[in-house]
Amino acid sequence: IPVDTFDLVLFGATGDLATRKILPSLYRRFLAGQMPQDARVIGAARSKLDDAGFRKLVAEALDEFVSKSKRDKATIEAFLNQCSYIAIDAKGDSGWAELKKSVRDEAIKAFYFSVAPSIFGTLAEKLRSHGIACENSRLVVEKPFGTDLETAKKLNADLAASFDETQIYRIDHFLGKETVQNLMAVRFANVLFEPLWNERYIDHVQITVAETVGVGGRGSYYDKSGAMRDMVQNHLMQLLCLTAMEPPSQFDPDRLRDEKLKVIRALDPVGQKDVVRGQYKAGKEPSYVEDAENPDSRTESYVALKIGISNWRWKHVPFYLRTGKRMTKRMSEIVIQFKETSHSIFDRDEGSMANALTIRLQPDEGMDLSVTIKEPGPGGMRLVNVPLDMSFAEALGPDGEEIPDAYERLIMDVIRGNQTLFMRGDEVEAAWAWTDPIIEGWEERGDRPQAYAQGSSGPEDALMLMHRDGRRWRDLED
Ligand code: BG6
Repeated sequence: IPVDTFDLVLFGATGDLATRKILPSLYRRFLAGQMPQDARVIGAARSKLDDAGFRKLVAEALDEFVSKSKRDKATIEAFLNQCSYIAIDAKGDSGWAELKKSVRDEAIKAFYFSVAPSIFGTLAEKLRSHGIACENSRLVVEKPFGTDLETAKKLNADLAASFDETQIYRIDHFLGKETVQNLMAVRFANVLFEPLWNERYIDHVQITVAETVGVGGRGSYYDKSGAMRDMVQNHLMQLLCLTAMEPPSQFDPDRLRDEKLKVIRALDPVGQKDVVRGQYKAGKEPSYVEDAENPDSRTESYVALKIGISNWRWKHVPFYLRTGKRMTKRMSEIVIQFKETSHSIFDRDEGSMANALTIRLQPDEGMDLSVTIKEPGPGGMRLVNVPLDMSFAEALGPDGEEIPDAYERLIMDVIRGNQTLFMRGDEVEAAWAWTDPIIEGWEERGDRPQAYAQGSSGPEDALMLMHRDGRRWRDLED
């Protein structure tokens, strides 16, 4: 079903995120028939391009980032015809009058800031003072949303000076991932899980986002950020919130975000002994410090944490989080590790094992529930743990069907005016308020991350974080 017609003004249209994710996602929605024939994508950036030059850039991006099976010549032509370009000086006055003439009052106006956060405030103010934004305009902002509580507050205040909170869509692209939304469906649309989803039945939760890529190419941004700011404060925090939150009374943006906010506010402060930082060494690829071009860098490319949540549901149930670059495998998952049965009628050495529910975000999106059964055969009552596996691609899509990219879903939600999968200002601030003391602690102590080998599961100390509690991380090699 096509959405209502729109004019999407993409600031930073020549940049990396725009060409890699945003423009290809818009094209795929166009191909799926969701983008109306008269909707328009207006690229805006500093470069002095004309429409033809911009269309060439878009065509190249589609060529590189859209799979071959989805690249249809006529459809690409039609999509390019809906793209145009205006050179805009964000800080000066050129281009703004032309932009005002280009956007239609009768269409939904979405302004997408795929630019450095330092100019969010200026752009928002220009849109307002030039009379381009109106009440039904929407503003989309990319991460990083601040580098600490103070900067996030300032950004929120800058945006609030020109836009209402109901118009602001702060992107965390993890929320657009199909399996992340499925986490809510699994929890709140089934009778099976929710009764067990608490400290009585759950031993602990593990959240892993492991990547094989390094930081080469974006070292100057990353070195000021590190895994804690780049991944934990936003993406892993969102995964934790959706796993831990209470059921909202309705599936409505504010009810849902209220519940996530309550989780963040219930997080215990993390002590030094409950966090491990790592930095990848040289291996097949250059080391972190070479990628960051900073020989003395103390920035972490890996972090693991043990987090407590002080509320009735989760008291004494640790959440272990880890994320890192240049690890052995690209794999993101949430594991809900259940407790063993309170009393076992089978001998323990016959292999009684606890259930675990694994929600796989990528690759191979899906879920598996490990259950204990009797090993087939006459050898007595020997128990084994087997997975009840469900791969979403197999269960839902025709062969080879691609699960839509997170951005496709999120951009269409902006046009539909649905803020459910976007972060609210208070939520972002609360996440920084929890993160800041951890980072400040490292800075005060002059903490150095532990070196780890490329292609490994991270630093040794991270294993200890769980071993000392008698638990262990899910093996990344499995
Ligand atoms: C981004 C981070 O937000 O998310 C990157 O800045 C990270 O460092 C990326 O690689 C991971 O996203 P995805 O969708 O590839 O898992």
